[in-house]
Amino acid sequence: MLVINTIMALRQYLNNQTEIAFVPTMGNLHDGHIKLVNLAKQNSTCVVVSIFVNPLQFGANEDLNSYPRTLEADCEKLKAAGTDVVFAPNIAEIYPNINVITLDFGQTMTIDTPAIANELCGAVRPGHFNGVATIVLKLFNIVQPSIAIFGKKDFQQLFIIRELVKQFNLSIRIMAADTMREPDGLAMSSRNGYLSASERKGANMLHNTLSQTVENLHKSGLKQITQFEQVATQHLIAAGWQVDYVSIRAVNTLLPAESGDKQVVVLGAARLGKTRLIDNIELILT
Ligand code: PAF
Repeated sequence: MLVINTIMALRQYLNNQTEIAFVPTMGNLHDGHIKLVNLAKQNSTCVVVSIFVNPLQFGANEDLNSYPRTLEADCEKLKAAGTDVVFAPNIAEIYPNINVITLDFGQTMTIDTPAIANELCGAVRPGHFNGVATIVLKLFNIVQPSIAIFGKKDFQQLFIIRELVKQFNLSIRIMAADTMREPDGLAMSSRNGYLSASERKGANMLHNTLSQTVENLHKSGLKQITQFEQVATQHLIAAGWQVDYVSIRAVNTLLPAESGDKQVVVLGAARLGKTRLIDNIELILT
């Protein structure tokens, strides 16, 4: 496995590769990421994984500085999983117009995502999906994969990346992998490491609450959506969570679900102490 830091060296190496599968990450890898790599291996002859903590997708008060950087351990996991190339650039390599000390992006050109990116996570993380779309497009242009693989835990991110590919006419197949969970149901996430031991014990409540909402929807359909969202929100608040949203949406548009929608997703984001967790469950209504 090669670890490459520059765009030029990566391009040179990838020049002869025809079937590249790409897994973009911010590192601090867990089994959920390795599942994406396994999927990449099954679908291509060359697997490229990027590790880049993208400053453009972090808000001013978010965890950019504390985000865990574990390159050596990540590379060991990626090697064991059969990755061919790890692309681990520094900030200036990706954003040549940035001031690396002040993180002022200067004349950097970015993507302006559609209104749906300002809802759900975007409502509490303004500009986040512009940052995600910009880095993903840049990485796609650098790696030029035929397939790119993302996890469904970041459901809104996956939706926006699919739109990016569609609306910018990119010739890349997006594959989605189901969320990997801990035995108690907690969705695997690099941010789970922020939880204290006592918070970790109660952290699966987000998943349990979304599961209960799914059960309610199976029983009663989409007539009482707002009520189900409120019940779930109150349930979490009563246990000490700060809830950003619990929302029932149509899978195909990510707009609020309406009667007649069949493919639906229940999404939630909430803070336990200082840790913000997100999760979602898809369901099909008959
Ligand atoms: O999901 C992530 O880890 C990041 O948002 C991504 C897609 C690697 C872009 O920085």
